[in-house]
Amino acid sequence: MSDPDAMALGERADTMIRTLGSISAEPNRLIRQFLTPEHRAAADLVAKWMRAAKLDVSEDALGTVHGHWAGTGKKRLLIGSHIDTVIDGGMFDGPFGVVAGILAAEHFASAGRKLGFGIAVLAFGDEEGVRFPATLASSMACAGTFDATRLDMADKDGVTLRDAVVQYGKNPDDIAAAAYTRDVAAAYVEVHIEQGPVLEYKSQPLGVVTAIAGQSYLNVEFLGEAGHAGTVPMMLRRDALAGSAEVILLAEKLARETKGEVVATVGQLRIPAAASNVIPGNVALIVDIRSGSDAARQQFVDQLKTEIRAVASRRELGLTITQTRDVATTPCDSVLQDGIANAIRAVGGEPLHLASGAGHDGTAMARLCPIAMMFVRCRGGISHNPAEYASPADMGLAVAALIRFIETAKL
Ligand code: GLV
Ligand code: MN
Ligand code: MN
Repeated sequence: MSDPDAMALGERADTMIRTLGSISAEPNRLIRQFLTPEHRAAADLVAKWMRAAKLDVSEDALGTVHGHWAGTGKKRLLIGSHIDTVIDGGMFDGPFGVVAGILAAEHFASAGRKLGFGIAVLAFGDEEGVRFPATLASSMACAGTFDATRLDMADKDGVTLRDAVVQYGKNPDDIAAAAYTRDVAAAYVEVHIEQGPVLEYKSQPLGVVTAIAGQSYLNVEFLGEAGHAGTVPMMLRRDALAGSAEVILLAEKLARETKGEVVATVGQLRIPAAASNVIPGNVALIVDIRSGSDAARQQFVDQLKTEIRAVASRRELGLTITQTRDVATTPCDSVLQDGIANAIRAVGGEPLHLASGAGHDGTAMARLCPIAMMFVRCRGGISHNPAEYASPADMGLAVAALIRFIETAKL
């Protein structure tokens, strides 16, 4: 089998990512949410690429596209990432991992030589968790851990996951059939842009992920009293937005006090009856809390909840706190990490080991089999932003390293 031409692979990855990046709900910003017409179009394109790469294509009941290439044994190496995006996201977060998997699988499939294990390339559709309150439904289905009670969760328009699955042309009763069995799934590997600045700072194109940080989501809703902005004296107000502002600053202050151990973000706030001349009576927000230490994250969640309750009581606001996510830190397998590190060395890189602050489908897949991730340098560490960028040269090295990893893997 000939050595892969890394630069040519990188150029192809770039073209594919840009083509996928043109599929959006809106013309001027990238929005591709789970089980939407844009998801449908992106999945169809990925399936077309997989067929061209000589993979056998199927799609499960949560819309994950599977591209299979058989080995001589029944075990498979699963290689995946996601094709959904955040709102006004970048093109590389997720799609690069899917494209890298297809290009690597194509390298083996087109050479007509069998490995001892097969390859399954997976394009998941629910990694960003933007549409429904919980996330990773598609990778949980593949890992066999999807909880059917999630089907009752609704998006902001009141469409339940069950209805969205049906509208996508699938049957919710078939979700269980998406699961890989443990005797087949030998390992899960994901290639992803770093989404942070470390590789760029260290002048290295590729890195080995040691663990994926755990995360908690607190959905906080304040109920005050709507009123006239001109007539109600300041002392007599029950302003739900002023209470929310305190929560935003509290989360920031408490996270800063952990000196880097915990990060906390309020990126979404809803004022259902927003108007400049109305005292906000109802506000809902989500606090996203991440840490590599589950104990530190739990302590932060407990402290923040206590302080939010104190805000509500002082301001005489009704309060509901719902924890919609509580995901433990996921370590990457040490043998697979060594394999990724050796593959990076083989393509001329010096593997840097780093933890992922971002969430990934690997968190769900780790319930099925050992997982590993390779990170690729991205410009300025910028992600979840249309300015996201990884160079064709770096992406090509990543695909070449993935091919090397596959060639040398003992599964
Ligand atoms: C996904 O990108 C997440 O980390 O929230
Ligand atoms: Mn991602
Ligand atoms: Mn993301």
